[in-house]
Amino acid sequence: MHHLFQPLQVGPLTLPNRILMAPLTRCRTERDHLPNPLMAEHYTQRATAGLLIAEATMVMAGNSAFWMEPGIYSPEQVEGWRLVTGSVHRAGGRIFLQLWHGGRACHPLLNDGIQPVAPSPIAIADDTVRTPEGKQPYVVPRELRDDELPGIVAGFRQAAGNALAAGFDGVEVHGANGYLLDQFLRDGSNRRTGPYGGSMANRARLLFEVLEAVAAIWGSERVGLRLSPLNRFNAMSDSDPVGLAGWLAGQLNPFNLAYLHLMRGDFLGPTELDVLTPVRERYRGVLITNMGYTPAEAEAAIGAGQCDAVAFGVPFLANPDLVARIRAGEPLNEADMNTFYTPGPKGYIDYPFLAGG
Ligand SMILES: Cc1cc2nc3c(=O)[nH]c(=O)nc-3n(C[C@H](O)[C@H](O)[C@H](O)COP(=O)(O)O)c2cc1C
Repeated sequence: MHHLFQPLQVGPLTLPNRILMAPLTRCRTERDHLPNPLMAEHYTQRATAGLLIAEATMVMAGNSAFWMEPGIYSPEQVEGWRLVTGSVHRAGGRIFLQLWHGGRACHPLLNDGIQPVAPSPIAIADDTVRTPEGKQPYVVPRELRDDELPGIVAGFRQAAGNALAAGFDGVEVHGANGYLLDQFLRDGSNRRTGPYGGSMANRARLLFEVLEAVAAIWGSERVGLRLSPLNRFNAMSDSDPVGLAGWLAGQLNPFNLAYLHLMRGDFLGPTELDVLTPVRERYRGVLITNMGYTPAEAEAAIGAGQCDAVAFGVPFLANPDLVARIRAGEPLNEADMNTFYTPGPKGYIDYPFLAGG
């Protein structure tokens, strides 16, 4: 595992290895979207990751898509996150925060009755969302007016400033998995006319405005971006996902980001399409990839120059000492899907470490 253990320069940070933790929503807050000591323990257990990318976090009030997810729009939330970042740093780790807006994946029952917003009034079909009143179908979102979009950008800017105050090492803008920025990017969910709909450049306009606003707070070299052009999760589609991915990769170069974090596949099943190759060809910065990698495949992918680092999701969820296990060639714990989104410590901070680790 020679390549996985080479240091990697990400902006001003030197990552000690290339085994990164992918963002994982775990719904462990208890009230008011407040991060807490339990979350601090969870992340601290995993602090040997080259980089921890903390879970999707609400940039603005009224946009919750997961019951009990964290936010970063209130002073109390900033204090809660300080527990997490302080503890991770004392353990020698590095941690970015994933900033997001759920768009049409939000639900009125999670948001005091507020109707979700989106680029176009198209509901997520054939799926449900967990709410205090049980699983519910998604609702038809309200189409955002062009003059409301500066408010969305301002929400990301404010959250970026809050993340800085909370002691993170950087932020990752969530442009993936069918949430608001991805809903704008892909033409299955964006049917707008005008400056934010139609061409790739128009569909990417909001994302680029958000990146600029967040980079103005952090410096671009501490801002990452996550994309998932092939993911059909959340009823997403695009007429030319490979073309969109390659085009975006080229357009992103001048942003001089910390990294681009590319999900190579589709949660809903195998795909023949390849976005990794065209993105690697056109993107000149640090490229992190993710989705379904074993340690051996990750090692080979870095060795073959396909990417610079690999983010592990479920393997890190179930193995707080994933880095040590890979180094020692030890088997990995299996994840328990039943506790992915349940409250409390079970399935969150009780996965075993290697004996003697
Ligand atoms: C429980 C769970 C929560 C997740 N939460 C997020 C999230 O908050 N943000 C995100 O971008 N992806 C999220 N994902 C996707 C993961 O980051 C990752 O892309 C996925 O698990 C595939 O990688 P893997 O095969 O290494 O697990 C989540 C996945 C799971 C299983």
